[in-house]
Amino acid sequence: MTTHSDVAGLGSPIPDHAVVPPVWGRITNIDVDRGEGSWLIAASGERYLDYSSGIGVTNTGHAHPKVVAAIQAQAAKLLHGQQNIVYHEPGLRLYERLAGLLPGGPWGAFLSNSGAEAVEAAVKLARVATGRPVIISFRGGFHGRTAQTMALTTAKDVYRAAFEPLPGSVYHTKFPYCYRAAGGPHAPDANCTCDWEAELDLLFHQVIYPNRVAAIIVEPVQGEGGYIVPPPTFLPRLREITREHGILLIADEVQTGFGRTGELFAVRHWDVEPDILVMAKGIASGLPLSGILARRELIERWAPGTHGGTYGGNVVSCAAALATLDVIEEEDLVANARARGGQLAGGLRELAADHPSIGDVRGLGCMVAMEFVKPGAGDGRVPDADLTKRVIAEALGRKLIVLSAGSYGNVTRIIPPLVTTSDEVDLALSLLEDALRAAQA
Ligand SMILES: Cc1ncc(COP(=O)(O)O)c(C=O)c1O
Repeated sequence: MTTHSDVAGLGSPIPDHAVVPPVWGRITNIDVDRGEGSWLIAASGERYLDYSSGIGVTNTGHAHPKVVAAIQAQAAKLLHGQQNIVYHEPGLRLYERLAGLLPGGPWGAFLSNSGAEAVEAAVKLARVATGRPVIISFRGGFHGRTAQTMALTTAKDVYRAAFEPLPGSVYHTKFPYCYRAAGGPHAPDANCTCDWEAELDLLFHQVIYPNRVAAIIVEPVQGEGGYIVPPPTFLPRLREITREHGILLIADEVQTGFGRTGELFAVRHWDVEPDILVMAKGIASGLPLSGILARRELIERWAPGTHGGTYGGNVVSCAAALATLDVIEEEDLVANARARGGQLAGGLRELAADHPSIGDVRGLGCMVAMEFVKPGAGDGRVPDADLTKRVIAEALGRKLIVLSAGSYGNVTRIIPPLVTTSDEVDLALSLLEDALRAAQA
């Protein structure tokens, strides 16, 4: 590339894309310059409607002025105040505030850097607090890319299959995927016929004693697995089963948290209180930060030094998180997630009526997806990953960024920032309508 930057490298040519290793699988080739709300602006000046939100991170939009101001003010004072060495005000305020975000409890928090790191913390805490070894996760779940979290993850082969052997004492059970249920597709409602409970019971009879299980980890809505919304009975019943056996329930809200689904945390849709809740992504509007909330009596059983990390609870990230929470509250972004998500899903359902290759439209709040199939083939649910790729490429050609998901790569997920407007949703729908037609959906 021959363009020059006035930021990094002070005028030297910007290096070629080839300096980035191929392991970063690529979704676009945009050379981004800046972001504003729902928009990414390329170095060329082209504007893209970012309905990926950087994989569900920029809930307050790109570069929200209030978050930027908090980061700038903090960065001018202190960049690193290591948690084992000092206390810093943004951290103290954030620990206190996070503990008040969820009813029930009382809660204690632990802060780290990435989603996977927070899942690791949840697993370590569950094992140490129960004295039990086993963790159960759900088929189609995604929990991260470290060794332990890969072992929990089954959303797609690519996330784990090249890395065996993986840590043991992890078993997987069935998530209620209503569209792909053996008995036929159905709505995730009270009449759901998915056999997830029988499968879990079978696991307890064939594979592992329930009293050896430390925790069951679950995404309240599966993310990378394809934006799969469970029926309303699922989480409450899972809570009952875990309580019966003294198993901790870990809600992985890395993708569903901070208003994404139209509640601050998705477990609130079903009034379920987990023992541990994992959070990241939307917590700090893009600065690296993650954490867990856990019942205080669990966190108090975690002995000093048995977990930690150099950067966890970084002072600038904590300042960004506090400002993010202010913005979510002041701008009522949770209600906007519900309204804009409803508008988006409603529009997609209208499009689906004209496109039989859209087998399912689903979602919760601003976590919305279309699942693409080959009409007339097999039982009507044969996945069409090629079409999904074409739709995403055609959308990108129209300057709309959306992502794929699903074990078969045949789901298009749409993740608007929670600040998005009704006009932007209408624009996205009309771009998607054009993209569907161009992709011959
Ligand atoms: C539900 C869930 N858990 C954990 C993770 C891992 O987070 P990170 O990529 O920050 O490690 C993700 C990332 O997509 C996620 O969606």
